[in-house]
Amino acid sequence: MRDVAASAASTGPRVLPRNDPRQYDDLAGEWWRPDGAFAMLHWLAEARAALVPPATRPGALLVDLGCGAGLLAPHLAGKGYRHVGVDLTRSALVQAAEHGVRVVQGDVTAVPLPSGCADVVSAGELLEHVPAWPRAVAEACRLLRPGGLLVLDTLNDTALARLVAVRIAERLPTVPRGIHDPRLFVDARALVAECARHGVDLRLRGIRPQVGGMLAWLLRRARATRTSGATSTGRAPRIVSTRSTAVLYQGRGVRKG
Ligand SMILES: C[S@@+](CC[C@H](N)C(=O)[O-])C[C@H]1O[C@@H](n2cnc3c(N)ncnc32)[C@H](O)[C@@H]1O
Repeated sequence: MRDVAASAASTGPRVLPRNDPRQYDDLAGEWWRPDGAFAMLHWLAEARAALVPPATRPGALLVDLGCGAGLLAPHLAGKGYRHVGVDLTRSALVQAAEHGVRVVQGDVTAVPLPSGCADVVSAGELLEHVPAWPRAVAEACRLLRPGGLLVLDTLNDTALARLVAVRIAERLPTVPRGIHDPRLFVDARALVAECARHGVDLRLRGIRPQVGGMLAWLLRRARATRTSGATSTGRAPRIVSTRSTAVLYQGRGVRKG
């Protein structure tokens, strides 16, 4: 497996190590393009938000760890949360703020927020980017109030995940090369055990984009690029449940009182 990769920069490609956070600066213009390099993050954000119930009290707080450009925000609209996002990448946080997220620049392994402040903590497509992911899990659980909800999705530490999410996905025109370092993928059992150590009983389910929708989307996108270079429109693929957690999986768990 190569450990360096070229990231597609708007100002010309530069070579960065896999999972180097500076890739998110190079790709800053992609976050909110529905058919851009981060398209799948939009689909996953919708699926993650579906795990979050409406707030049960005024002023309820949702802390979005590794919030990126705030793609979760539109899917939380009307649920009654104050949405606070924590991320390392300033160029992403600027965009998150433009979408109504209250942003905090910081590392998810040492979050500058008080213990028990959050009704919900979200960690979407984050843990597989954090070398010390158990530390990020400890922080997520620390932030939750008793009875608070943790929702997350990540990539499993399996040969199949490495094949699908790196070797195959990075050959598609829509997935940035080098965005993942497969050595950081998150073993599902270890994640459940780590959450349990911090008082959260995490339940997992495998997820994937719906195949027909994904193929139709790739076709539409290819046609749009060929004809005009324009962004295609049309329904985004849905994220559906799958029996296996071997590639991509969601987790949902409540912090004990
Ligand atoms: C794949 S993106 C996911 C963004 C967002 N959760 C979403 O689903 O749209 C990963 C994000 O995690 C952030 N990130 C990676 N490591 C981090 C760390 N140690 N602390 C804070 N943010 C981090 C990156 O800057 C990037 O915005």
